[in-house]
Amino acid sequence: MNRRIIIFTIIIMTMSLIGLMGIQIYWIKNASSVKEATFRSIVNDVVIKIIYNVERLEKNKAIQINQYERMLNFTRHLPYETFITARQLDSLISLELNLKGIDTKFVFGIYKPENETFLLENSSKYRRELIDNGYANELFRSDIFSTPEYLLIYFPHEKQFLLTELWSMILISMILIIIIVYSFAYTVTIIFRQKKLSEMKNDFVNNMTHEFKTPISTISLACEALRDKDIRKREEFYENYISIIQDESRRLAGMAEKILQTAVLDKGQIKMKRERINLHEIISDVIKNIMIQVEIKDGVITKNFGAGSPFIIGDKVHLTNLVYNLLDNANKYSPKRPVIKVNTENTANGIILTIEDNGIGISKAEQKKIFDKLYRVPTGNIHDVRGFGLGLSYTKAIVEEHHGKISLESEIYKGSKFKVFLPFSEGKEFGLF
Ligand SMILES: Nc1ncnc2c1ncn2[C@@H]1O[C@H](COP(=O)(O)OP(=O)(O)O)[C@@H](O)[C@H]1O
Ligand SMILES: [Mg+2]
Repeated sequence: MNRRIIIFTIIIMTMSLIGLMGIQIYWIKNASSVKEATFRSIVNDVVIKIIYNVERLEKNKAIQINQYERMLNFTRHLPYETFITARQLDSLISLELNLKGIDTKFVFGIYKPENETFLLENSSKYRRELIDNGYANELFRSDIFSTPEYLLIYFPHEKQFLLTELWSMILISMILIIIIVYSFAYTVTIIFRQKKLSEMKNDFVNNMTHEFKTPISTISLACEALRDKDIRKREEFYENYISIIQDESRRLAGMAEKILQTAVLDKGQIKMKRERINLHEIISDVIKNIMIQVEIKDGVITKNFGAGSPFIIGDKVHLTNLVYNLLDNANKYSPKRPVIKVNTENTANGIILTIEDNGIGISKAEQKKIFDKLYRVPTGNIHDVRGFGLGLSYTKAIVEEHHGKISLESEIYKGSKFKVFLPFSEGKEFGLF
């Protein structure tokens, strides 16, 4: 996929998500104000109903006591304590509120602003709030000669009460949004990882084709030459071309083998033939093989075999490949005059092999990646060395197969130092030492 399309999709997706979140927030806000309005109107209804009940109670009481007295006193209603107690009023209000589905704590008071007193109340704790924020309605409105008195109701936990009903909605929305954002981010990282991988695979195929092309064309050129009768007649030419063909086909076979090795690695089935081997011998053999290439560049390999006991249990072929890969890299990535130091030393339970070069080095950020399959440090202008990016991933797999460890110290432009630890024997079943 095109990078631009991916970025475009990401932007569209992000914008849609933000839009969706905005709509969600808008709806929740809307729902909360609708809830608030409903709550208000319910409470107002309740207050009106309570007032009606209180007035009726007063009237009944008045009739009961003395109609005549009531007539005389027609402008005034009876004092509250004669027909209702705070507790009765409390249960009256609570009953009404419960009927309407409101079961949060409330306080009420009958307040007379004229002399700023509470004539009746169920708690004196929230007086200020009652006066400032309570739901209010006038009592005995028809009582035109007395100053107004109000029934006030206040809900200390009104906000929380309204929110609890909304909470589930908010919570579910948040969870859904988090899931979407997470999956989105995850998908994007996967896309980029896949993209990187496919680029690496492309590089690999290009490299491979190139690497195979050279020997193949050399071989066909040599064959062409051999068709020439004159050349066939001259022994030394003939021999020369035959050996060229042989060398090149060996190179081809070697490369095919390398690729096959990693294919096997992929399936996680490295065949190991474990035996007692001398690591120093292996290293010396590899050095002998690689020496020519180093000497072409006027380089040197110094060995310092400090390990007193160089024997371990391991696979000879794989360990040879391992040492070869590390030495090959040390040579390949030292463009000037390679100075390669090979050291061994013993620890209590194994051998540490260090291979140090004075090459181009590897930056901190790249150090973690170079053990990945197909990974090659982007070449840029630094070097144009060919390779498949398979060597180190194979090397690491082999080290792990031997229950060892591989580590790297490197400074860019200064050089690299690979350290491999191999235990004498990787388990109790190989108790040869
Ligand atoms: N000794 C070294 N010095 C500098 N860079 C190295 C060294 N060894 C490995 N690298 C980097 O690590 C990458 C991976 O190495 P490897 O797996 O052997 O693949 P290849 O050698 O085929 O490119 C190389 O492409 C190179 O960029
Ligand atoms: Mg390599």
